[in-house]
Amino acid sequence: MLVVELIAQKQRGEQLTAKQIDFLVRGFTRGDVPDYQMSALLMAMYFQGVSDDEGRQFLRAMIQSGKRFDLSSVSGIKVDKHSTGGVGDKTSLIIAPVVAVAGIPVPMVSGRGLGHTGGTLDKLESIPGFRVHLDDDEFVRILERTGCVFGAQTSELVPADRKLYALRDVTATVSIPPLIAASILSKKIAEGTNALVMDVKVGSGGFLRDQQEAERLAETLVRWAAVEHVETIAFGTDMERPLGTACGNAPEVVECLHILRTGTGDARLLELCRTLGGGMLLLGGKARDLKEGGQLFDQILQSGEGYEKLKEIATAQGSEPRTLDLYEHAVVARHHHEFRSTRSGYLTRVLPQEIGWALVDLGAGRYKSEDTVDHTAGVVFQKQQGDSVAAGDLIVTACWSDARNEKSALERLENAMIISEQPASSEPLIKFYCDAN
Ligand code: URA
Repeated sequence: MLVVELIAQKQRGEQLTAKQIDFLVRGFTRGDVPDYQMSALLMAMYFQGVSDDEGRQFLRAMIQSGKRFDLSSVSGIKVDKHSTGGVGDKTSLIIAPVVAVAGIPVPMVSGRGLGHTGGTLDKLESIPGFRVHLDDDEFVRILERTGCVFGAQTSELVPADRKLYALRDVTATVSIPPLIAASILSKKIAEGTNALVMDVKVGSGGFLRDQQEAERLAETLVRWAAVEHVETIAFGTDMERPLGTACGNAPEVVECLHILRTGTGDARLLELCRTLGGGMLLLGGKARDLKEGGQLFDQILQSGEGYEKLKEIATAQGSEPRTLDLYEHAVVARHHHEFRSTRSGYLTRVLPQEIGWALVDLGAGRYKSEDTVDHTAGVVFQKQQGDSVAAGDLIVTACWSDARNEKSALERLENAMIISEQPASSEPLIKFYCDAN
């Protein structure tokens, strides 16, 4: 088989066969298919689309590219949660420990920031001592001991996805829904979870702006996961504005710790945690329906036990026992810039993609995969979309220690906030729900 012929085939809009996809995925993982040919193929897929059959074959070939974790020694229904990625999306850090308190094992293989979106691993690595690079045995041992573990994809867990994901990131080809589904599910199936709650983001802060496309992705995830015996439910949630009051690694961890300690925080963020966490409690057999799951989630969150659980997890993954208690003092940014309103009106829009790229400029994300991250970099909102503002009011504070492009970041932030005379209508947070029935 010649790779160049397969690229031309896809360019003409013709389907790739199972054999051809196997050949491509195996060759790319081994290094026989170079990045430039895979990039050309991805671009052809981006414009010509990827069929359901092709996507499923990618999923199969990607799972086969590595090994699977064996979680059979961990009793109970293992439940994970995954988001397609957004700005200020920090729910995993809140939900996972709370659900673990209920006695559901939560194995989380998380990702790093991708493009303008943040990633759980970068947030966790802002916690002094916290190790996310665990080998299989350690991953399983920590899960057995604490009921929850956060790990990075190892070199053996879906290596095809590791390489492909990195290439899609730098070739603007992330937004191919069947490849998103194959990428997410390959990792979830290989990590050994029994059930999965998906948060499919809809809007300019995520990778899919169109609700119909997001609904199709959710339906695909649920259907493909069922074939692999991973019971999955999916929520479509709004990503037309950043989630919560902070964006950036350390600022988001500070926000999560506050919520876990006090049970209080941004209403939309809490609603999303309750919804997704309630779904995990339902799939894990601790609630009869989503409503009861949400109520149980709230009850545990209010008890403060989620905070204690996160401390236990952090300690098991390398941090000192008091690290989280002292966290806010350990991650202080060297520079701050305040944005104030120049007029009275309403903060009608906070553009999430602009905020996301400003964070990358500030150093909270990466231009290239080998870039290091400034964990202190981020923004903290004093006003939220929809709030009324008076001239001179503080809207948002940017912070950083080692910015990559301070000028661009500050310009983007300035442009990301739109103040108008009329209040804008608010988008519902939960846009749709999808399960296997
Ligand atoms: N998250 C993933 O794990 N993969 C994608 O392709 C997009 C988001």
